Amino acid sequence: MKINRRTVTTGLAAASLSALLPSMAFAQKKIVLGFAQVGAESEWRTANTKSIKESAPAAGIELKFSDAQQKQENQIKAIRSYIAQKVDVIAFSPVVQSGWDTVLKEAKAAKIPVILTDRAVDSKDTSLYVTFIGSDFVEEGRKAGRWLTDAKKGDKGPVNIVELQGTVGSAPAIDRKKGFEEIIKADPKFKVIRSQTGDFTRAKGKEVMEAFIKAEGKKINVVFAHNDDMAIGAIQALEEAGMKPGTDVTIISIDGVKGAFEAMMAGKLNVTVECNPLLGPQLMAAVKDVVAGKPVPKRIVTKEGIFPMDVAKAEFPNRKY
Ligand code: AHR
Repeated sequence: MKINRRTVTTGLAAASLSALLPSMAFAQKKIVLGFAQVGAESEWRTANTKSIKESAPAAGIELKFSDAQQKQENQIKAIRSYIAQKVDVIAFSPVVQSGWDTVLKEAKAAKIPVILTDRAVDSKDTSLYVTFIGSDFVEEGRKAGRWLTDAKKGDKGPVNIVELQGTVGSAPAIDRKKGFEEIIKADPKFKVIRSQTGDFTRAKGKEVMEAFIKAEGKKINVVFAHNDDMAIGAIQALEEAGMKPGTDVTIISIDGVKGAFEAMMAGKLNVTVECNPLLGPQLMAAVKDVVAGKPVPKRIVTKEGIFPMDVAKAEFPNRKY
């Protein structure tokens, strides 16, 4: 073969191209995950977002993230945009349970697997999503109920409870209510005298509690808040009304965020049932398995505990969120 300048140049170009190819192929293989978050309504949600944002790069996954500001239409828009961008996997924490079938069918038609995290959907067709990673909210409600029935064992009653519900139509609000009622209904001395949504936020929790105090005043014995933020809002309302949360009124909530531990250490919150927001690492592992075609369990339940006021000080240094 006759070697000239052109052959050498072509050879060199081919060599450098082949050196580049493996890294290009590797770069192309990076999994792209589109995540549609509920919003930033609570301390829990902030910790959940942080966990997802930190664990994606740690797992070598490219994350596209959107915040729906607690609006279902925003989440649907985000999911549609992920479908249009042809991401590898879509994950989301549905703000409410119903109304997802159309967009989930669109993802299925585009052959993009969907993973639910934190909150469930009520779609009859479970083939619309691969797996659901998150807490057992009914059990959380039961834990709150069991703690209360135990704490008020010797009490003759009535035990008047006001309930601050989470976002209307959301899985945690529906399930926590259900689990709590399942336990307290065994003893008629427990009465839920008021129940209203505080939308999982501190400000709304306080506002609704103010209305409860206005209507029921000193009749209120217990506050059952579906999350810590609303409980903290309720504590503020009670204090402003000259009542003593944690003593005059028993406060029960769910999540186990640092703010709740601080309130317990100050003697203002009696118990928090844990709901773990650190779902990022489990989600990234599931994303990788799904892309690799490995089987993934249809339901992955998070392990959780319960923390009464008397263990708050000892437990506080161990809290991660
Ligand atoms: O879906 C989980 C719930 O959502 C948390 O309990 C609450 O704090 C959050 O807003």
